[in-house]
Amino acid sequence: MCGTTGIGHTRWATTGEVNKVNAHPHQAGTIAIVHNGVVSNHKELKEHFNSNLFVSDTDSEVIARIIKRDGVSSILSSIQSIKGELGAILVTDDCLPNTIWAYSDGSPLIAGIGEDGDYYIASDVRALSGYVTKAYRLNSKELVIFAAGERVNLNKYKIAEVPDKPVSKNNFDHYMLKEICEQPLQIDDEPEEFNLPAIGDNIKIIGCGSSYYAGLLGKRFLEDISQIPTSVEYASEVSLNTPMPHNTTHIAISQSGETKDTISAIKKLFPKVVSLHNSNGSTITSLCEYNNYINAGPEVGVAATKTFFKTCLRLYHLAEYYKTSKHYTPQLELENIAQQVIDNANHIHTVAQQIYHYNNFLVLGSGYHYPIALEIALKLKETAYVHAEAMPAAEMKHGPIALIDKNTPSIFFCMSNDPNINQILQNIEEVKSRKGEVLVFTDCQNIDADWIIELPKHMNFRLQPLISVIGGQLLSYYIALTRGCEIDKPRNLAKSVTV
Ligand code: F6R
Repeated sequence: MCGTTGIGHTRWATTGEVNKVNAHPHQAGTIAIVHNGVVSNHKELKEHFNSNLFVSDTDSEVIARIIKRDGVSSILSSIQSIKGELGAILVTDDCLPNTIWAYSDGSPLIAGIGEDGDYYIASDVRALSGYVTKAYRLNSKELVIFAAGERVNLNKYKIAEVPDKPVSKNNFDHYMLKEICEQPLQIDDEPEEFNLPAIGDNIKIIGCGSSYYAGLLGKRFLEDISQIPTSVEYASEVSLNTPMPHNTTHIAISQSGETKDTISAIKKLFPKVVSLHNSNGSTITSLCEYNNYINAGPEVGVAATKTFFKTCLRLYHLAEYYKTSKHYTPQLELENIAQQVIDNANHIHTVAQQIYHYNNFLVLGSGYHYPIALEIALKLKETAYVHAEAMPAAEMKHGPIALIDKNTPSIFFCMSNDPNINQILQNIEEVKSRKGEVLVFTDCQNIDADWIIELPKHMNFRLQPLISVIGGQLLSYYIALTRGCEIDKPRNLAKSVTV
């Protein structure tokens, strides 16, 4: 293929089946577009065109049609007439083969110039690594035209830090395994001081997926250690109608800093939101007044592992800070204990090979381990494509126990330092006596279970979930590996959920 301009999309379309016809770029005559976002009125807009013109089922194709109809000279007004979460769009026109039009609204577009003088534009700064040394974040709602022979003044935009080189897998088979194994190293760095407003009477945490589950663990830390009433809500469920006490500190958690649902929620809670993020310069950091970088390093595997771990650790530090005013209390022993779980990976792999064929799991934990049960059920779903349902251990007897049979193993977190240990032991017995199979993560002796994965115990039971989660992540990883799944890039998922 030869040419001087090119656009592409590494993701399947969100609207429409996963197939080649729906894959970007979408074309209308000489116009081609790639789009990262949602056109909410695409059905209505399509009515203005002959339906036979459309070849795909996507919402995005209509953008190409409208630009074709109105001409590239009025591209800005055409794009602005489209409703929805527009995200980011790149456009080319075969009639002007040396030009790319770039427009974003709500999603990032980063541009830089390579040594060869060529422009590179991407939705994630990491994609530019190795191509440019300096990159800039284009402004939202501004059309930027990159045309051969015409210099764009990128200096007027905010700088985006470009990683030196693409992150390597080193000798690991998958990024997910590498990132799980990097977790002990997250512990002994001395983190930046927190950037926070004066503490309110209560805290509300928002996030999605793993970030939401980290928030649930954070609630435990904040309430138990610093005695601050804390609520946690899915960002997508935040409503303007929820009565909010005046003096609430809002914390938004997002590793990518680009999750659309979290961005929309922050806009509703605007202005004084505190972020906990792993992405300097992201959209969320530009919206929040108090930004706190977790510094987990780049996470390439789509499933959150080390960012979940580090977010939880920082929430623990935050709770300690609210209690003692110290920004950081070292937890050096945590590193050794976390490493012991990784050293047990071969045994966890063996267990995974014995249970990988099950299609349903219950994952149970109590108190501090309930958010971990939720997180591990999510890891099983997204990396191994198995159905896994998490619940507080004692809740099982209030209904889900009806699911217990020989095809639905229960995975328990049962540590001797758990304040609810007796109740969990009883729940295990309840499953066993109904002929259910049981896998236990534990340091207890003499548990009647089909599979036991020993976990080292931490003296501080509040830090135990950070140890236990590593065991669950490894189990999910090895089940996914044995099932032959696309571990680092699970189907239908993306690292930043910008739609
Ligand atoms: C789970 C996972 C997702 C994200 C969620 C929020 O492994 O990766 O559930 O946790 O999409 O993403 P961030 O934290 O980037 O806002």
